[in-house]
Amino acid sequence: MVQQSHTDTVREKANIDFPPYIQHQRLREWVAEMVALCKPDNVHWCDGSQEEYDDLCNLLVENGTFIKLNENLRPNSFLARSDPSDVARMEDRTFICSLSRTEAGPTNNWVEPREMHRTLDVLFDGCMRGRTMYIIPFSMGPLGSHISYIGVELSDSAYVAVNMRIMTRMGRPVYDVLGEDGPFVPCVHSVGMPLAPGQADIPWPSNPNNRYIVHFPEERGIWSYGSGYGGNALLGKKCFALRIASNIAHDEGWLAEHMALVGVEAPDGEKTYVAAAFPSACGKTNFAMLIPPAGFEGWKVTTVGDDIAWIKLGEDGQLHAINPEAGFFGVAPGTNFKTNPNAMETIRQNTIFTNVALTPEGDVWWEGMTDTPPANLIDWQGQPWTPDSGRKSSHPNARFTAPASQCPSIDPEWENPEGVPIKAFIFGGRRSSVAPLVFQAFNWAYGVYFAATMGSEMTAAAAGKIGEVRRDPFAMLPFCGYHMASYFNHWLQFGRYVPNPPRIFLVNWFRKDENGKFLWPGFGDNMRVLQWIVSRARTRAAGLETPLGRTPLYEDLNWEGLEGYTKQDFNRAMNIDKELWKNEILSHEELFIKLYDRLPKEMVAVRELLLSSLWGEPEWLDRYE
Ligand code: OXD
Ligand code: MN
Repeated sequence: MVQQSHTDTVREKANIDFPPYIQHQRLREWVAEMVALCKPDNVHWCDGSQEEYDDLCNLLVENGTFIKLNENLRPNSFLARSDPSDVARMEDRTFICSLSRTEAGPTNNWVEPREMHRTLDVLFDGCMRGRTMYIIPFSMGPLGSHISYIGVELSDSAYVAVNMRIMTRMGRPVYDVLGEDGPFVPCVHSVGMPLAPGQADIPWPSNPNNRYIVHFPEERGIWSYGSGYGGNALLGKKCFALRIASNIAHDEGWLAEHMALVGVEAPDGEKTYVAAAFPSACGKTNFAMLIPPAGFEGWKVTTVGDDIAWIKLGEDGQLHAINPEAGFFGVAPGTNFKTNPNAMETIRQNTIFTNVALTPEGDVWWEGMTDTPPANLIDWQGQPWTPDSGRKSSHPNARFTAPASQCPSIDPEWENPEGVPIKAFIFGGRRSSVAPLVFQAFNWAYGVYFAATMGSEMTAAAAGKIGEVRRDPFAMLPFCGYHMASYFNHWLQFGRYVPNPPRIFLVNWFRKDENGKFLWPGFGDNMRVLQWIVSRARTRAAGLETPLGRTPLYEDLNWEGLEGYTKQDFNRAMNIDKELWKNEILSHEELFIKLYDRLPKEMVAVRELLLSSLWGEPEWLDRYE
């Protein structure tokens, strides 16, 4: 593995007093180079302690970045308001700078790595003047697990340091695991706003004119400039745990996925773990924390992770998954005690809120938190707000950062270094038509086909046209750090070599009728579908054979406790319209042409088989009428 420090010129090195516990020579050299380049006024070695966290939060309050919330209503919690230009991931400013353009593939932005290094060297030269560089050691995954991996982020943002302490295992013990020569992913981040002597800082420094989120897959390195928000700045999450980790996983034969990890416990105590991939803002956090509805007494759903899964083949022949994160960075708007009571409990304390509204009592509020909005608020931009002001009080991509350990549904095994065994994969986009509520792919190759061609209607987490359907293979479009078609092939390899791979299911909670009304209640009632999935994954429960795969009939699901939902409603949510599906499959061609140079032959074969089975008037057609 080539590590950092490969630019055309030999870098300068700063003279630094290293803490004696850092014995890793390459880490020392890299930090010295980065200090010489970024020229911070101070260097702070994060130890990850509570005391340090409290000090940094106080500093952020003094600087005006944080507002401390009412200690009685929301203990030890803070509100931050970002610059209005810095509110979401920026896919158009995200780069995968692999050595060759083909390696990055047509779905990623690519710049030749030496050219990008030259650009970054200019941007980062002196970029931390007037600021402190925080040196943030972190482990993605439980410390010392053979599935975990270490990173070190250098950032000039104290906001990043405190968020990283919640989102990762951050602090001194990481250096013990790293030892003298352990592998780590070097991550450099700057808000891109150096301060001249005497220049006052602002609450949310960033650089609207120059933003770069850059990955060097072969170096396993990450450079981020100009944004302080979410995945652009908390580099352990999307940048490392998905974009760089997907490269490591490809090379080493494991999977780094954009998936929630959920345990389903039956009344007899039998536990089944499933991994579910949904594109951004499709209710993945709600799904991860689902509470079974009435009619499911004795059933329990537990949370291992809500966003990312790292999955390895175990010696027992099963796939084992860990959640590499330690916290939730969840979308706040729409979260309430009905949609996600577990999330609401998780964020009762020790939570950082970003871009939500402030109540006169010093608590937080966002659209959808309660049926009736408070009469007066301060909105996410610091302006007075009333329900009739005609704008939203919170940004649609406003977030909470909260420790996973505070989640009432957290799974007892969530920190097991061996991970949890996965029995089913679930994929689902947001589709108002076409895609049925649920089906099981006939086999691994069919499953990979459907995951690869998954489509979703756009939402606020990424910049783009809201409502437009985009193909989001495996919910990894913005996160796969190499050629997407090679990634499909990597998935197909698992079907070839894993003796009894998990079953693959496709779901769509978002189908609507002709009046725009949802055809499925969603949220806790997704348990009805999840139960069928789990029973099929374990025992091959009843199902009908359709051209897409196996589907449940109305009689196959438990309807107890769901008043007023009829067989006809269900059948409309399940309907497979032959003509719509022919068009759908035709539209997959666009993706396949884009990925043509590396597209696995299975994709073309499955497509042909699907088309042939959509022909004629077979028996399944009238089963959902
Ligand atoms: C996220 C995303 O923030 O997927 O989790 O966009
Ligand atoms: Mn995500």
